[in-house]
Amino acid sequence: MESHQVLIVGGGLAGLRAAIAVADAGRDVAVMSQVHPVRSHSVAAQGGINAPLGNAEGGQDDSWERHAYDTVKGSDFLADQDVVEVMAREAAEVIYELEGWGAPFSRTPEGRIAQRPFGGADFPRTCYAADKTGRLLMHTLYEQSLRRRIGLYPEWMVLSLVVEDGLCLGAVAYHMLTGELACLAAASVVFATGGYGQIYGRSTNSQFNTGSGMAQAYYTGVPLKDMEFVQFHPTTLMGSNILVTEAARGEGGYLINNKGERFMKDYVPKLMELGPRDIVARAIQTEINEGRCFDDGSVYLDLRHLGEKNIVERLPEMRSNCLHSLGIDPVKRPIPVQPGQHYSMGGIDCNVDGETVVKGFYAVGECACASVHGANRLGGNSLLDTVVFGRRVGRKIAQAETAKSSSPNGKALERAMGRVERRLKELFSGSGDEEPAQLRADLKDTMIEKCGIFRDGVVLKEALSKVTELQGRYKKLRAIRGGRKFNLDLTRAYELGGMLDLAEVIVRGALAREESRGAHYRMDFKARDDVRWLKHTMVQHALDGSHFSYKPVAVTRWKPEVRKY
Ligand code: FUM
Repeated sequence: MESHQVLIVGGGLAGLRAAIAVADAGRDVAVMSQVHPVRSHSVAAQGGINAPLGNAEGGQDDSWERHAYDTVKGSDFLADQDVVEVMAREAAEVIYELEGWGAPFSRTPEGRIAQRPFGGADFPRTCYAADKTGRLLMHTLYEQSLRRRIGLYPEWMVLSLVVEDGLCLGAVAYHMLTGELACLAAASVVFATGGYGQIYGRSTNSQFNTGSGMAQAYYTGVPLKDMEFVQFHPTTLMGSNILVTEAARGEGGYLINNKGERFMKDYVPKLMELGPRDIVARAIQTEINEGRCFDDGSVYLDLRHLGEKNIVERLPEMRSNCLHSLGIDPVKRPIPVQPGQHYSMGGIDCNVDGETVVKGFYAVGECACASVHGANRLGGNSLLDTVVFGRRVGRKIAQAETAKSSSPNGKALERAMGRVERRLKELFSGSGDEEPAQLRADLKDTMIEKCGIFRDGVVLKEALSKVTELQGRYKKLRAIRGGRKFNLDLTRAYELGGMLDLAEVIVRGALAREESRGAHYRMDFKARDDVRWLKHTMVQHALDGSHFSYKPVAVTRWKPEVRKY
């Protein structure tokens, strides 16, 4: 049995930043990742990372307080303000740290880190590296991990977190290349496993963003928080739903309906295309629903007035995606777009240092919910979340006494491995006739159609009954085909159970929350209701189903007010 003081699950930005902090404290740490880190989903983040540097023209008066206020307001006052304050206070420092490590940020003519406007922000606060910010930060952190000789388990997939008596003991993992199962003992385990976008149709997320980390944490008794808050990015490429970065609007792109109008004037006239994501996504979906869309059901994002030089210099990845996916050159033609599922505001309940209710188990990045994004995340705050909280989690673990423990509980780990082994055998010997890919497709359709941008009690009940039906059918899967090596039929069937259970939690949370707040918009309860609903949704797994409770939102200096833009 392999053993590490600290095991980080997930090789994206949050995981690597945590690993670097642990290694810098002289602790033994390894990173386990389903895909090689430089192929992690963090590389899909394009437009930038927020910090109040005050480098852009018109942005000189920016401050951490203004960044924090924009974040709290963007969150529709559901974010915990103490956590937001931490992120905004530490933002500039982590950016300069990344710069010092060689992150190739785009520059102002004076040589400072360039910043562009992003949605819902009062100042041009988004630092960027053309529109490859996530990818280039990923390479920067990967280099730093190599420099520290951090151990890596690439193409290993954690199938079960191991917890006994409220203590985290390690994980059971599947080596995709060989098909072997292994126990990994660790006194501290960090989940940086990303979001669950694949539960939804029309998602910008990678195929491996199935929410498996959230589901595993949930099964061990760690509560999930605010799961009903699902972000829809306003602009994804029609058809493929590849992200069309918010930077395209930050650089001055227009949204146009089939009447040739810049329709955002009817929704947020002051900010236009740079309204916060929830509002812009709803505006686009309204234009589509009311028939002011083009024949393919899209609206247009028009960048032609920006000129070829600007598009090539500042938005090269977006242009290349348009060319490859649709054969459209945005220099010459507008881009057909539609909103798509993009991000999970909710996740594993944790504090500002990633600590959860289970001793030795931490969460960070999109799978976590310290509650910095509340009901709606601002663009550019996700990359920031990964590096600020990644560093904090790593530093916290480095100080923790439990991280030093070196006596693995072999028996408990063997028991957990036995349970996983039995589950895999069950999947190989299934005698039903349900096709896992069909269940997954049905789940995605249900979630995007019935628990999407606009929600309604009657339709949410339909979603819940469909998810319940799918959970029943999941018990009658056909036998999984093939052997143990790199078997995606196997891993997808294994993960599907967790996806269904997360979907149930999302829908139940959405059904219970009888108000509209941020990305959760109820057609039958259109107003925000702070009297009843200024609170976090908590859900805990139990043998008899999901148990919901609520906890207060931390309000420090910004009293909830009507959100006007
Ligand atoms: O639009 C984008 O570039 C995405 C950024 C984000 O989700 O923060």
